[in-house]
Amino acid sequence: MSYRIAILASGSGSNAENIIKYFSHSEQFIFPLIISNKPDAFVHKRAENLKIPSITFTREEFSEGAKVIEILKENKIDCIVLAGFLLKISTNIIEKFPDRIINIHPALLPKFGGKGMYGDKVHQAVVDAHETESGITVHFVNEKYDEGNIIFQAKCPVTADDTAETVAHKVHALEYEHFPKVIERIWGK
Ligand code: GRF
Repeated sequence: MSYRIAILASGSGSNAENIIKYFSHSEQFIFPLIISNKPDAFVHKRAENLKIPSITFTREEFSEGAKVIEILKENKIDCIVLAGFLLKISTNIIEKFPDRIINIHPALLPKFGGKGMYGDKVHQAVVDAHETESGITVHFVNEKYDEGNIIFQAKCPVTADDTAETVAHKVHALEYEHFPKVIERIWGK
């Protein structure tokens, strides 16, 4: 069985690139499309370099869902990976892809999740709370921000010297190491 996976990303897209490169020789995992909500996000440049089409939908189009679903259908997409994607996924999209949408969150959920908790805000909150560890959480996506079933977590230490930036660095390293393997494991059976 092969899987056609769409990656959704709002920003730099380093995870998107890392995942696509990891599976570049795979016949089982195919990445026909990157979708963003920001026309000027760096992920489009990465997509161009990787020779993968990338498109942008507006916030309204994402919340309405129909146009996005149409493109996903056209591209015969089986699964969706959110890699630094900042908008909520609409109910009609979630219903079309039961257990086929996953997200990566840059902290150890259920802590430091929810609306408005993204990017450096998460890492700053971790530092401000004097946490001794942070990490990554890969979870299924449901209607509530960051509340779908957890699939995988990995941890890194946080010390008194850490800043949001250094925590981000450690968390990114965990993302690059684990996210592609988690995708392989959940859908690669
Ligand atoms: C990652 O840390 C991801 O966990 C978070 O946003 C960041 C995106 O980074 N949700 P990139 O766009 O993959 O470089």
